[in-house]
Amino acid sequence: MQRLRVRPATRPLRGGVPLPSDKSISHRSLILAALASGRSKLSGFSYGEDNVSTLEIFRALGIGIDDDGAGVVEIDGAGLDGLRAPCKPLDCGNSGTTMRLMCGVLAAQSFRSRLVGDGSLTRRPMGRVVGPLRDRGARITGEPHPTKPSDLTAPLVVGPLVEGRRLGPLEYAMPISSAQVKSALLLSGLFASGPTVVQEPLVSRDHTERMLSALGMQLTAVGGTVSLHPPADPGAIGPFAIDLPGDLSAAAFPLVAAAIVPDSVVTTRRTGLNPTRSGILDVLRAFGANPHVEPHGESLGEPHGEVTVRSAAVRGTAVAGELAVRSIDEIPIAAVLAARASGRTEFSDVAELRVKESDRIALMAGVLRAFGVEVDERPDGFVVHGHPTGSLRAARIASGGDHRIAMCAAVLGLVADGETIIDGADCIATSFPRFAATLAALGADLEVE
Ligand code: S3P
Repeated sequence: MQRLRVRPATRPLRGGVPLPSDKSISHRSLILAALASGRSKLSGFSYGEDNVSTLEIFRALGIGIDDDGAGVVEIDGAGLDGLRAPCKPLDCGNSGTTMRLMCGVLAAQSFRSRLVGDGSLTRRPMGRVVGPLRDRGARITGEPHPTKPSDLTAPLVVGPLVEGRRLGPLEYAMPISSAQVKSALLLSGLFASGPTVVQEPLVSRDHTERMLSALGMQLTAVGGTVSLHPPADPGAIGPFAIDLPGDLSAAAFPLVAAAIVPDSVVTTRRTGLNPTRSGILDVLRAFGANPHVEPHGESLGEPHGEVTVRSAAVRGTAVAGELAVRSIDEIPIAAVLAARASGRTEFSDVAELRVKESDRIALMAGVLRAFGVEVDERPDGFVVHGHPTGSLRAARIASGGDHRIAMCAAVLGLVADGETIIDGADCIATSFPRFAATLAALGADLEVE
C-alpha cells in the first residue's frame, strides 16, 4: 500500500502544469469509438485506472485497440452491431461511470455480460440505472444492496435480449440529476426501436449529448430534457479523432493549492471548460479566488483552455442547487478552500456525495477535523468553519480508497504545521496518476513511498 508524505509549503507554488485527460470524456470517447464504424484516434489519453477499466472491457468485447503507451489510442470500431460476447467477467474496478454507462450499451446486446467491480463499487446504488433500462425491455439482475433493501448493486448480469427483440422507446423523468444515468439511457437509445426522452431536474454534465451531436446523431437538448432518435443504420457513427481535454476535476487540486499557499500562481494547461462541468470556477469566484480563464478552442464539441489561480484571502460562501450539480466532484476540494476561508461555508443539496466512491461527506468531515477544522455534518451537506490564519494541525489520514479524499488531504498538508501522512494513496491513480509529480513540479515538498 502506498503512503504519501506531504511537508508544509515553505515557498509559493509556481508554474504551468499539464493535466490527465478528462475522465468523463475519455470514457465516452472509448465507448463511442468502439461503436463507430472504422478506426478512431484518441490523443492525450492518460491511463487513469478508471479509463483503463473501460478500455480493457472493450478489448474483452472483441474490439481491436492499439495503444502506443504514450497517450495515442487507436480503436477499430465495429459499429452498433459489432460487439462480441466476452469470455470473462467485465471488471469495472472502482469506476461507477464504467459500470453504469456499460450497462446501457450491454443491455442492448444479444449476449450476456457480467459486470464486476471493487469493494467500493459493490456498494454503490445501481437501481437508478437498472430500473429505467428494464422499463425499455432490458434483462438485468444485480445483488441486493447491503444497506438499502430497495436498491441493487454489483455484480450485475446484463442481457441477453430475447432473440429477435430490440430495446423499446423510453420516456423517463429522472428523480435525481445524474450524467451517468442519463448517458446510460442515451447510449442504450442508440440501439432502440424508438426514441429516448430523458428529463432531469437540473442539467448534469452533457458530454454524451455533445459528442453524440458532434457525431451526427439526431439529438436535441432543451433545458433538462434530452431526446435521441436511434440511427437507422448500425454503421451510422463514423470514426473520429479527439484530442482529449484535460480534466478540470483534476485541475481543481493544484488550483486550490495555489489559492491557499501564499504568493502562488498556478496555471493548468488544456483544461476542459464545458460549462456543465465548470462549477468549480464559479465556486472559486464565490470564495474570492478569481480564476483567470483563457479559452483556446474545442475538440468534438468540448471546449478547453488555460486556467490560472493566484493565492488570495478567501472568504466563506454557500454552495447549493445548480452550482452544486456543476461541481459535484469538486465539493471535497472546495471544502479544503473553505477550511482556509474566513467565516463559514455551507454546502447543501449534495446528498449524492454520500454514494460516490465513498461517503464523501463523512470522510471529508473526518479529514478536516483531523487537521483541526470544525465541521457540522448534515444529511445532505455540511458546514465548514474556516481557519484562515496560522497553520492547520498536521494529520495522518487513511484515504478510505477514495482518490479525491487522498488528494484533498495532500493539499491540506501544504498548509499544516508538520508532516502529513496519507495511507492508501495508491487510489490516486484512479484519476490522476501524476498527482504527486504535478504538485512537486510546482514546488511542493511531497513523496510517495
Ligand atoms: C460522471 C458523472 C457524475 C460524477 C462522476 C462522473 C460521468 O456522477 O460524479 O465522477 O462521467 O458521467 P453521477 O452521474 O452519479 O452524478
